[in-house]
Amino acid sequence: MSREDQSLGLYVHWPFCKAKCPYCDFNSHVSSQVDYAAFQTGMLAEMRHLASHLEQPSKLRSIFFGGGTPSLMPPDLIAAILAEAEQIFGFATDIEITAEANPTSVETAKLTGFKSAGVNRVSLGIQALDPAQLHFLGREHSVTEALAALALAQTIFERVSIDLIYGLPGQTPVNWQATLRQLLGLGLDHLSLYQLTIEAGTVFYTRQRQGDVLTGSDDVVAGLFEMTNATMEEAGLAAYEVSNYARDGHECRHNLTYWQAHDWLGIGPGAHSRFDRQGQRVGLATRRSPQSWLEMTALKGHAIETECVETPMGWANEMLMMGLRLKTGIDLNLIEQKCGPRQLWLDQNRLATHFEAGLLQFLEDHNGDRLATTAEGRLLLNSLLADITR
Ligand SMILES: C[S@@+](CC[C@H](N)C(=O)[O-])C[C@H]1O[C@@H](n2cnc3c(N)ncnc32)[C@H](O)[C@@H]1O
Ligand code: SF4
Repeated sequence: MSREDQSLGLYVHWPFCKAKCPYCDFNSHVSSQVDYAAFQTGMLAEMRHLASHLEQPSKLRSIFFGGGTPSLMPPDLIAAILAEAEQIFGFATDIEITAEANPTSVETAKLTGFKSAGVNRVSLGIQALDPAQLHFLGREHSVTEALAALALAQTIFERVSIDLIYGLPGQTPVNWQATLRQLLGLGLDHLSLYQLTIEAGTVFYTRQRQGDVLTGSDDVVAGLFEMTNATMEEAGLAAYEVSNYARDGHECRHNLTYWQAHDWLGIGPGAHSRFDRQGQRVGLATRRSPQSWLEMTALKGHAIETECVETPMGWANEMLMMGLRLKTGIDLNLIEQKCGPRQLWLDQNRLATHFEAGLLQFLEDHNGDRLATTAEGRLLLNSLLADITR
């Protein structure tokens, strides 16, 4: 693949939230005092430093402000980061610049400032449309606030996506179908619909170990997943990735950068970068603790803590793991070009078994070499991957 076909993305991690949600294991912290000026200095320095790791910096095709809660960032800080990014890399003419936002009224009031700063896509964390479910998830906003935030965001931005979490205890197919119908009436072109996962280190994890039932049963959740795919597809929103639904052309370009194993740089506490360099796949990660990240960037101009170069097998596994999340799958020839013959990284016998079971398929539109999961296979993705990779 030529450099022109590759997209370079920039991820900016904002590690603060108003409150910590009981299910969330992202690198997010609650802090009453944040030194925005120091974060700006650190992030600009780290961006300059990371650019020097690339063989040949290409123009940015996407930028993603994720968190934590980036809607807590001052718009001026966003503007400063975007100005520096444009100066260092240049922007593709159709660059996608997304900010995650929580739908509380204070944050919603800042959306116009985000637009002026250069953001052109917003991803709103609505999470549920039922007061009891929002309460269960420990959210800081009401259903009314969430819907008002969405309506306002849609007047400011052409591209708005929302996040919801399903598979909650007691959530029935009837209840979830009603939510899906309501979502479809909201005029959205992109939605991320996640199954609730109990992550180690979270409050939910501790509660589950103490015996609380915090998710629906595997069978019920599998049914909700299938229902979600069918309902969304029927409404013209393709399940283009395990948890992501979009109308044609409205897919999240930044996330596609990850799933298609293109290059990206990540700045801020705990951010990861991955890019090809001299035929190898390089991975970098910065220090996770916000305070410690600030101290290290002040000292060294970056807070990179680990640097690894993938083995060809590790790189092939990464491409399979990411690519098989996508409905369009992954080109095995491309993996071979980078990582060597497929028998080194793919178990052909196991592959055949999963073809027969209807979990994997070759997509016909690509010379038979595009491996993809079926909808059923995407439901069992983790065990499938463990089985077919070497
Ligand atoms: C970085 S987080 C949140 C961004 C923003 N702070 C918010 O809360 O809306 C991105 C998304 O991941 C999803 N998420 C986080 N933890 C999850 C979990 N344990 N299970 C399922 N989805 C989760 C949520 O839908 C969330 O909106
Ligand atoms: S879900 Fe969002 S608001 Fe809640 S703790 Fe995680 S990043 Fe923060």
